[in-house]
Amino acid sequence: MSGYRLTTVETVREEGSWAFTAREGDADREVFLVPCADEPDGGTAEDGSDAGQPVRAWINRCTHEDQRLYREGVGAVTRDGSVVCPKHGSAFDTCEGSCDNGEAAGTTLRAIDIEVRDGAVFLTDDDLAYLSEGLPDDDGDDDAGPSSSSHLTF
Ligand code: FES
Repeated sequence: MSGYRLTTVETVREEGSWAFTAREGDADREVFLVPCADEPDGGTAEDGSDAGQPVRAWINRCTHEDQRLYREGVGAVTRDGSVVCPKHGSAFDTCEGSCDNGEAAGTTLRAIDIEVRDGAVFLTDDDLAYLSEGLPDDDGDDDAGPSSSSHLTF
């Protein structure tokens, strides 16, 4: 078994969400974990996909505009099993990443591969290498607007 040990399912549930930064090629990626409300106890998904995965990992960027869904000090805001975008309010299913409402309707968040083993969450995505917990310190201004010189690329 391989993969970088990120945190525990208990921590994600207690905090509501949990973020880390990873490297993909030449770019840094922000990723956040959220509990999957449909599978609180790690049951089997109806379609057999991601069976028993009580948390999910998503790239920390709204599909509509360059907006973080998880913010430092706030976390990811969830409501009724969805992550709510702080900018225009589109809601993404925490288990599927899909959105059927608002500006981001018809889109899906990019999923990152993780595995849960013995209550711990491991990063198993071949494309990403773990860098650090939380979001990058040097790019914490969500209000920089469209002229932001963010070094992040998506
Ligand atoms: S930026 Fe997220 S819905 Fe517009």
